Amino acid sequence: MNGSADIPRVAEKSHEDQPVALEVRGLVAGYGSVPVVRSLDLSAAKGTVLGILGPNGAGKTTTMMTLAGLLPPLGGEILLDGKPLPRNRPARTNAAGVVLVPDDRALFTTMTVRENLTIARRPTGPTIPEVLDLFPALSPRLNVAAGALSGGEQQMLAVARGLVQNPRVLLIDEMSMGLAPVIVEGMLPVVRRIADETGAVVILVEQHVHLALEVADRAIVLVHGDVVLSGAASALAADPAALQAAYLGTAASAVHA
Ligand SMILES: Nc1ncnc2c1ncn2[C@@H]1O[C@H](COP(=O)(O)OP(=O)(O)OP(=O)(O)O)[C@@H](O)[C@H]1O
Ligand SMILES: [Mg+2]
Repeated sequence: MNGSADIPRVAEKSHEDQPVALEVRGLVAGYGSVPVVRSLDLSAAKGTVLGILGPNGAGKTTTMMTLAGLLPPLGGEILLDGKPLPRNRPARTNAAGVVLVPDDRALFTTMTVRENLTIARRPTGPTIPEVLDLFPALSPRLNVAAGALSGGEQQMLAVARGLVQNPRVLLIDEMSMGLAPVIVEGMLPVVRRIADETGAVVILVEQHVHLALEVADRAIVLVHGDVVLSGAASALAADPAALQAAYLGTAASAVHA
């Protein structure tokens, strides 16, 4: 089914006084001419954390790559502050403020933490000390090669590197990949702070569903490229049976806030 009509067009309560920053209308994403994600609609006000959940192969990464301009959309529109983002122009999309933290982290492994941050930083972005305030564990590691960091530290650096680019939209794909839940538990509140303190829209693809729902405002569940469930994160978290059914592909409707 196509659950796009179930995505509320208004922002979550705490952000409803904020203008819509990111709007996705009828996005079709895929490879070549083969659609993987069909008709996705999203709307997020400044400072919103939106979770994209769903099983393996659902189209989460495909969506993120398309939002980041790394894959040409097969249909639909992506608007930032009401203006269409350039299609299939990753550098220009990035310059417009859409920053992807990819699932493989893509750090410069032979460069130090400081070099990774310095090379990525925009003059308008937070300073390195400001970023270290969010990720204090990186402070003693500034002169260590990124490749020598632990998995958790590498992921902190990947998010920190996204942050110094002063994102308007921060796309974080599977932050928890390969990390113990306790590390994820520590990092997700930082993601919440990034949205709250910078006003960036954060889109979080996450396998740790319940941890993600704790920090997200809203979430959608993608299954085989369709939105099968959507709603306020609190409402989704309160209905584990609906979530489970969605993952099993049997959900038929949205959970409404
Ligand atoms: N480069 C590609 N060319 C063709 N098909 C692809 C390509 N990358 C992914 N796909 C297909 O697109 C579908 C969605 O993949 P995607 O990586 O977006 O899923 P995902 O939700 O991110 O899954 P996971 O949780 O495993 O990361 C899958 O059927 C996959 O085989
Ligand atoms: Mg993926």
